[in-house]
Amino acid sequence: GRTHHHKFVVKSSSYSRLCASKEMLTVNGKFPGPTLKVHRGDKMIVKVYNHAKTNITLHWHGVKQRRNPWSDGPEYITQCPIQPGKTYIYKIDFTDEEGTVWWHAHSGWARATIHGAIFIYPKLGYGYPFLKPFSEVPIILGEWWKKDVMKIESNANRTGGEPILSDSYTINGQPGYLYPCSTKGTFRMKVKQGKTYLLRIISAVMDEDLFFGIAHHKMTLVGKDGFYTKPIQTDYIMITPGQSMDVLLEANQPPSLYSMAATAYSSAFGAGFDKTMTTALVDYIGTYSSPITSPLLPNLPPHNRTEASTSFTKQLRSLGTKEHPANVPLHVDTFLFFTVSVNLLNCTTNETCTGPFGKRFAASVNNISFMTPSLDILEAYYYKIPGVFEMDFPRNPPMEFNYTGDKLPDNLLTPSFGTKVMVLEYNASVELVLQGTNVLASDNHPVHLHGYSFYVVGWGFGNFNPKEDPLRYNLVDPPQETTVGVPQNGWVAIRFKADNPGVWLLHCHIERHTTWGMNMVFLVKNGEDPDTRILKPPHDLPKC
Ligand code: C2O
Ligand code: CU
Repeated sequence: GRTHHHKFVVKSSSYSRLCASKEMLTVNGKFPGPTLKVHRGDKMIVKVYNHAKTNITLHWHGVKQRRNPWSDGPEYITQCPIQPGKTYIYKIDFTDEEGTVWWHAHSGWARATIHGAIFIYPKLGYGYPFLKPFSEVPIILGEWWKKDVMKIESNANRTGGEPILSDSYTINGQPGYLYPCSTKGTFRMKVKQGKTYLLRIISAVMDEDLFFGIAHHKMTLVGKDGFYTKPIQTDYIMITPGQSMDVLLEANQPPSLYSMAATAYSSAFGAGFDKTMTTALVDYIGTYSSPITSPLLPNLPPHNRTEASTSFTKQLRSLGTKEHPANVPLHVDTFLFFTVSVNLLNCTTNETCTGPFGKRFAASVNNISFMTPSLDILEAYYYKIPGVFEMDFPRNPPMEFNYTGDKLPDNLLTPSFGTKVMVLEYNASVELVLQGTNVLASDNHPVHLHGYSFYVVGWGFGNFNPKEDPLRYNLVDPPQETTVGVPQNGWVAIRFKADNPGVWLLHCHIERHTTWGMNMVFLVKNGEDPDTRILKPPHDLPKC
């Protein structure tokens, strides 16, 4: 494969949306940031210059980074952040993925404005498992915040209770024509009647799952998170924060102006969220009398339609062909059961907390709320520096209870705190059940695992039943993903082979949950052979 070189300058740029302008962090002055295009088997070298006033790191979401956690990016997990005025070179190796993945900042809330698409074409000389599209278009679902997003994190941690909502969702950086001062900038996709387009859809949203659709057009889902799926014809998709989806769009309607749109899907009872709709336009080339004032809107499910969400999600399957096989681990060496919860925390006397009962929120995995260390875990592990993390992350929650019931044990409201990792043997076959809980407010949690892709072998509502549920697992063609939605009051079971040594973060991709501590870390040991060990750290690794 080829090696691609990119220069990423992180700096503050001025942007205006919703009738006001603000300074915000960008890469190379762009929002969304640059789209990177590679073939499977290629390498990419990205030199990052931090010209901003804050620390920064970048993450290549959905790329395995085989043996090279040094380039993975989450701050204080695999590296110290790049300080203002400093540089760092990321090396990205596209070995396993094919389709759409993305990159984003992994430092505070900076990813709200620092993100972009990565197109991974088939290996040179190979084709798509579907007819070659006429053209390919990134569709990045994001948010616009009137506030300075970099200040949200400390607010979220301090007061916790205030709804941390954006001012609009966006498509390719634009709120769309339903918002004030937004008609002119609305993203417009020109199409030719009779042609097929590949939409490479990414949810860079921080807050909520989204429904997305296009008026009068069916879409065909063909990929998710950098892996092909069996084609699914659908009127809408449900996409969680962190996920990416490849969708074919056939321009087969009478020439006109049609809207694409996204709205929130949120099952969380009483949680404040953005009920508005972001829009963009599909504009047929040619002459037609254009309904400029009100282009047709798609019929998206209402915000609380869990059925609509699950009826889409349950159709997902791996492509499972000879060229793109589903290699599902059939036996399990290591079984793990993690609860993911939102908890409540007492505030210290000098804080004003605005959460329920004057407390603030916390979030946890197995009731441990993750504390970010001040030196990254990877260096601490590699150089054997003591005191940074503990290796006793539990395999099960602290107690068994009716996870999704109404009456929950009070002692689970307050989590314990720690920087704990779970050690996995090299090549262990892992099954991880992620169980949503009702400890405080129940919500969907899009859980993302760094360094791996996994197969979603089963999921359901209520409590996971270890006797019965595994009997219904799909071990033939389950979807291969890197971010999976743990349904509200439900569970998912994933399987992966721990064949990538390193330090790998697992976390909820809803930003406030991450801020509140819904993270944990896997430490996957080296194998015996030299080529199954973590690579040497690069010379320019940032210092803390
Ligand atoms: Cu897309 Cu750890 O993140
Ligand atoms: Cu979450």
